[in-house]
Amino acid sequence: MNAESPSPSFYSVLDESALTDNSMEIVEVQGRRIALIKRFGKIYALDNTCPHLGGSLGRGTLKGVAVICPLHHWTFDLATGGVVEGVPDEGVAVYEVKVENGKIWVNYPSLT
Ligand code: FES
Repeated sequence: MNAESPSPSFYSVLDESALTDNSMEIVEVQGRRIALIKRFGKIYALDNTCPHLGGSLGRGTLKGVAVICPLHHWTFDLATGGVVEGVPDEGVAVYEVKVENGKIWVNYPSLT
């Protein structure tokens, strides 16, 4: 694998017990802010920064399996990061999540 091809790495970001159902936390991985969201018992990880004008998705509200940006209410699917309401093609990145040893881990791509 060369330097231009990201290799996935899991980072421990939070105690599992710190994220209750239907709540959100903002964590930082490799200098990037990620919204960690537990919804209907499943944990999702999305880029925290709204692609519209930089709203903090981790400070948004939940609607179904989506998060609504607190600034202008664009809405993003938690599983895919795709736009539910807002300008199409402006979705956010989502990351694989696993729970192990009481910790939440996020698979964040690394360039190393
Ligand atoms: S900054 Fe998120 S909708 Fe405008």
